[in-house]
Amino acid sequence: MEKILVMHGPNLNLLGEREPGYYGSDSFESVNREITEAAAALGMECEIFQSNCEGELIDKLHAARFDCKGVVLNAGAYTHYSYAIRDAIAAIKIPVVEVHMSNVHARDEFRHKSVIAPVCAGQIAGFGKYSYLLGVQALKNIIGEGAE
Ligand code: DQA
Repeated sequence: MEKILVMHGPNLNLLGEREPGYYGSDSFESVNREITEAAAALGMECEIFQSNCEGELIDKLHAARFDCKGVVLNAGAYTHYSYAIRDAIAAIKIPVVEVHMSNVHARDEFRHKSVIAPVCAGQIAGFGKYSYLLGVQALKNIIGEGAE
């Protein structure tokens, strides 16, 4: 079975209690359950990882290149300024789909810029928890295209 990594960056562990107007009221655990089920329905095994630390996210991206076909990444606020995460994505040769629950382009100006977008396969934003589910679907399509 193809394995993928779904990775959440800082503050996303607080889903359900954090700014529900932007991120919904579903808990982190229930969103992860839906992600895992969506991946399984597409025939993929899904590892979920969350960290509030930049270095841990980078280490996990590095490790993913050995056992995952691709990554769905919500890098949280790191999206907007972490050149280190951008370089990690560029360094690994598996596709990374950038996702955001909120429509970052309709929010504060600093959220309009994604420094990781140029090295990601594409960006999905604004669909709440469905951004992750769409990200999983997109990754499945990309992996399928790469298959022989
Ligand atoms: C986010 C958007 C970011 O700007 C913010 O810092 C987050 C979450 C989203 O999912 O909409 O932490 O990535």
